[in-house]
Amino acid sequence: MAVGPDVELGRGVVIHHPELVNLYGCKIGDQSKIAAFVEIQRGAVLGRRVKVEAFAFIPTGVTIEDGVFIGPHVCFSNDRYPSSVDESGDLLQVGEWQVTPTMVRKRASIGANATIVCGVTVGEGAMVGAGATVTHDVPPDSLVVGNPARLIGPRPKWWSRPPVRSRKRRLNTVEH
Ligand SMILES: CC(C)(COP(=O)(O)OP(=O)(O)OC[C@H]1O[C@@H](n2cnc3c(N)ncnc32)[C@H](O)[C@@H]1OP(=O)(O)O)[C@@H](O)C(=O)NCCC(=O)NCCS
Repeated sequence: MAVGPDVELGRGVVIHHPELVNLYGCKIGDQSKIAAFVEIQRGAVLGRRVKVEAFAFIPTGVTIEDGVFIGPHVCFSNDRYPSSVDESGDLLQVGEWQVTPTMVRKRASIGANATIVCGVTVGEGAMVGAGATVTHDVPPDSLVVGNPARLIGPRPKWWSRPPVRSRKRRLNTVEH
């Protein structure tokens, strides 16, 4: 594994273990951080100050804007109906299948082990809960969880420092 010579790295990008990632033909913006065992494929674009945790898979067709958090084991996809072979059993070659793009807008956060089915937009400032399977667009500043992911309310106003809460959020209730 390696960082390919065709990877466009911005200023101050940190790749914690360059020998343990597989990055090729992609673009990574200034001050982003990439953990170990991450794959980022050709044509994928990451903005500035994006944090990608270990084992994330970011294939061709994915665009991630500034300030996004990608949790460990997050899995994007880029082919809605994937197949290894055609009707006659021959291997499909590059260009014989269709890439469906996916967009993650500024400052969104995607929790650990979430799966993002291709073709969606995760809105600005939105949060995807751990383990969610996202199949539809996620509205800006919202919180979605589950499989399939459903809206459970707005993203909490706080970011990484939650206040002490006296009650738990109730699933299926939208708080305003
Ligand atoms: C979605 C999330 C932000 C909700 O946090 P919260 O607002 O504090 O919510 P609570 O923990 O009070 O949970 C509220 C309810 O939602 C459920 N819930 C919480 N997270 C969930 C998730 N990811 N998927 C499904 N249900 C979830 C809880 O079980 C609880 O339901 P209950 O009252 O029936 O037990 C959080 O649980 C989460 O998934 N964060 C991402 C963590 C992560 O992946 N970090 C990556 C870096 S290590």
